[in-house]
This record gives sequence, C-alpha cells and structure tokens, in this order.
Amino acid sequence: MNKRVAAAVVAGAMIAALSACSSGAGSSGGTSSDGKGSDGKITMGFSQVGAESGWRTANTKSVQEAAKKAGVTLKFSDAQQKQENQIKAIRSFIQQKVDVIAFSPVVESGWDTVLKEAKAAKIPVILTDRAVDSKDESLYVTFLGSDFVEEGKKAGDWLVKDYAAATGEVNIVQLEGTTGSAPANDRKSGFADAIKGDPKFKVVASQTGDFTRAKGKEVMQAFLKSQPKIDVLYAHNDDMALGAIQAIEEAGKKPGKDIKIVSVDGVKDAFTAMSQGKINFDVECNPLLGDQLMELAKKVKAGETVERRIKTVEGTFTPEQATAALPTRQY
Ligand code: AHR
Repeated sequence: MNKRVAAAVVAGAMIAALSACSSGAGSSGGTSSDGKGSDGKITMGFSQVGAESGWRTANTKSVQEAAKKAGVTLKFSDAQQKQENQIKAIRSFIQQKVDVIAFSPVVESGWDTVLKEAKAAKIPVILTDRAVDSKDESLYVTFLGSDFVEEGKKAGDWLVKDYAAATGEVNIVQLEGTTGSAPANDRKSGFADAIKGDPKFKVVASQTGDFTRAKGKEVMQAFLKSQPKIDVLYAHNDDMALGAIQAIEEAGKKPGKDIKIVSVDGVKDAFTAMSQGKINFDVECNPLLGDQLMELAKKVKAGETVERRIKTVEGTFTPEQATAALPTRQY
C-alpha cells in the first residue's frame, strides 16, 4: 500500500468512527456501575443498515422518535448498506461504554467476532428487524422483528390462489433484496415453498435489486429484455417493485395487468400504486419497532428476562384494502 492510499484508509476509518460517535440524537453521559449513564439515562448505540428504502426511513424515524420519548440517549450510526461500517460502529459503541447496543444486521453472517467483543465488555445486544446466523445464541439477548419466511409464504400463497384456475405456465421474475440479508434469503425460501406444489409456477429469472428503487428498475429492464414472457413479478420489497413499475411502463406494458406484481413492505407509495391498479398484492412488514425496542432496552438494563424472539404482528393488503388504508397509513 503506498503512503497516499494508507493515509486515505486511515482517514476513512476515522471518519467512520467519528460518524458512529457523533451522528446521534444527543451525546452520552458517563456509565455508572448500575449500567445507566451518570445522568440516570440509558445510552443506546444503534447501527442502522442504511437509507435504502421507504421502509428503512420509517424504521429510522420510529427508533429516533421512540428514543426521545423514552428518554433514551441514542447514538445513531448509518452503515450505508456496508457490514464493515456496522462492525466499526459497534466497536465504537463498545469503546464509548454504551448501556445497550441495538442493530439491524445488513447481512446474516460474519458477526461472531464483534458480538463476542460486546459480550466481553458486558454490553447486551438487541437485534432489531434482521437476524444473524450465529450458532452462539448467548451473543445477543433478543431479536425483535418480522418473520420473513412467513412474509414470502404469504406472497406465494396469494399467487397460488390467484392462479388457481390457470392451466398454462406462469412465468415469474423475482427481484431479490440485498444478497446475504435475512429478508432476501427468507422471503425467497418462503415464496419458493408456497409455490413448489404446482409445476406451472416457474421462476424464470431472479436477481438482486439491493432493496432500492433504482436497482429494481435497472434489473427489471434487463428481465424485460431477456425474458420473452413474464406473467408475474415478485419483489422482495416495495421500493424495487416501484422501480420495476417504471421499467414496465417505459416498455409499453401495464403493471398490475400485463404483468401482475406481488411485493412486500406495505409503504404508502406502494399503496398509492395499488390504488392505481399497478400492484396486485402487498405483504406487510412493519417498520415501527422503536417503542418496543426502547421498552426492551429498559427491561434488559433492569436485569429483567425478555423473550428470545419477539415477532412483529403483520397483515396483507389487496388493492381495495390498500386504497382504504391509504389516508391513515403512517409510513
Ligand atoms: O429488513 C427489512 C427490509 O429492509 C425491508 O423489507 C426493506 O424495504 C428494507 O430495506
């Protein structure tokens, strides 16, 4: 490594560490022996995946608002969809002796080392939204979030019902979430499980759109060029579905009619598209985890036992239901 590259690497590391330290809603007080800050408040280090989707923006807002309401000092760090940034942020939280670390892991694997460091420092870790695949369950106290396999299954079950009378082949293209992430892995397997009983369902192309609108559009454009017949698009989140809708319209086809669309999340923009007949079914994934997370943090610090797995309660939406829910939808 030449000197200039080495200097850039060091500077990059410092910026990442600083952003982990300073992008919070407030600064931390010291930590006393009862585990609470010297000002009597709990300090939480929260490492967020990024800002890749409407869902994520709603989740961040929920966590930040809930922390304020609960009097929890929040040190918030945005990892910009990079595991290395999350690891740096967690190490920075350990150095700062926060009371609790919460994070939404961008991918499932590769967390054991840093989680062992948190454990050695006696800082409890709460997983929110996404899981890790660690065999050692003592590395985190609880996991609060959705059942992504179930979400994929709900999407597949809808398709099986909707095409119950169809006899010909049903060609499906799939826009996958971030490679290696729990929602991408689980939504794919839950969906595959639901449709596997009927050979008329064929996933003819499947590729990551990284949970973003831009990538969803780009990959859908490629699908439209490479696939002679597409009946259904299954998108692992609404942002990719919304990007794909643009690609479908630009190709002169009608989303929701020429190509049926089933998606996951249930964000407002998707409900608007549903009210226009462009998305046929949406499986809800609730991002409003903030209040539950703060409750859990308080319980964990008070030494109370919490459940190992807390599942979010979620529904599904037809276009009619989405249209009715639109005026009061929070995210
Ligand atoms: O982990 C939840 C997923 O992450 C949401 O479905 C997606 O929109 C987000 O980026």
